[in-house]
Amino acid sequence: MQLSSAVQKLGTETAFKVLAKAKELEAAGRSIIHLEIGQPDFSTPKNVCNAGKQAIDEGHTGYGPTCGLPVFREAIATHVGELRSIDVKPSQVVVTPGGKPVMFYTLLALIEPGDEVVYPDPGFPIYGSLIRYAGAKPVPMPLLESSDFSFDVDHLRSIVSGKTKLLILNSPQNPTGGVLGKAALQEVAELCIKHDVTVLSDEIYSRLLYDDQFESITQFDGMIERTAILDGFSKTYSMTGWRLGYGVFPDWLVDSIERLMVNSNSCTATFVQHAGLEALRGPQEPVDAMLKEFRERRDFIVKGLNQIPGISCRVPRGAFYAFANVSELGVESKELEARLLDEAGVACLAGDGFGENGHGFLRFSYANSIENIGEALKRIREFVAGL
Ligand SMILES: Cc1ncc(COP(=O)(O)O)c(C=O)c1O
Repeated sequence: MQLSSAVQKLGTETAFKVLAKAKELEAAGRSIIHLEIGQPDFSTPKNVCNAGKQAIDEGHTGYGPTCGLPVFREAIATHVGELRSIDVKPSQVVVTPGGKPVMFYTLLALIEPGDEVVYPDPGFPIYGSLIRYAGAKPVPMPLLESSDFSFDVDHLRSIVSGKTKLLILNSPQNPTGGVLGKAALQEVAELCIKHDVTVLSDEIYSRLLYDDQFESITQFDGMIERTAILDGFSKTYSMTGWRLGYGVFPDWLVDSIERLMVNSNSCTATFVQHAGLEALRGPQEPVDAMLKEFRERRDFIVKGLNQIPGISCRVPRGAFYAFANVSELGVESKELEARLLDEAGVACLAGDGFGENGHGFLRFSYANSIENIGEALKRIREFVAGL
């Protein structure tokens, strides 16, 4: 049996591996606090669940149009346009089963072997995995703690070349909680236009910002024509398991994405789209309430981590991850990930799983109650004291 060379280049997300190990330990009777998976612990808002149920009852259970229900594409176009102050046509929107397929399709549609793709490091592990799968050369863009995990545009200038086909952006960012400001984005936009680079802008955390206003690279002249936006419902509306996301593509890319959709998924579940429509058009208070709760947890966990000798943590500006520097503990971050789970019953992720520049860091997802976060901090403190 011989696997394809492409499939052997696929990486994975350690979050799912650690979650599986943590569940095994729990099944064996251990108490584990889950700070590993990037999944809001809130329920999907009731009105959204009801809309999904009603859609099933009304018989919306068959195939739908490949790119999504027209009424839903229209609602998404309006929402995306308003949040970013841009004009979006419904025909640019492709509804997908989760946000992830937008990464896959964009890379498959654009990349030739030998192309270079610049992506954030540390960053969402699937970027590097898919870049390799598509046969391109991954070119990491370091996001450093010293610059609050933002972009050093001069460094970006030094790694973008005539071979750069695609730049992947993610702001607010997983795993650092870093945010790209308007000035940096403008410089990045100018660079992309100069070198004819297309952008995949992963904006899945666009509604999870604590103080800053959300800024998208698509607001700059000439960028909507060369940017694929990835966004969705998983994080904003606590809908991870519903699998509902979307891409907004330049006109020239939509047809290829539609073909990739028809060749893989045919369409996104129809009743799930009805639930998504209600999420967008219904009351937005649940989103505000979730953000308020995340802010309290953020402040709590960051303060607690900073009180542990040998650990320091910057205040994340968006998303729901604390990316703590643990290099002073004198134990490799991967070993810390394993030992915190085994010995302290705290599931978290080594920064190494997000790229070379994640080495020496641990990512804590604060999608858990204050009470559980408090218990996790106590366990980490005791574990560190015993090192
Ligand atoms: C940066 C980033 N992009 C995309 C996704 C994928 O979202 P979805 O679950 O909608 O596929 C995630 C999920 O963790 C993420 O962190």
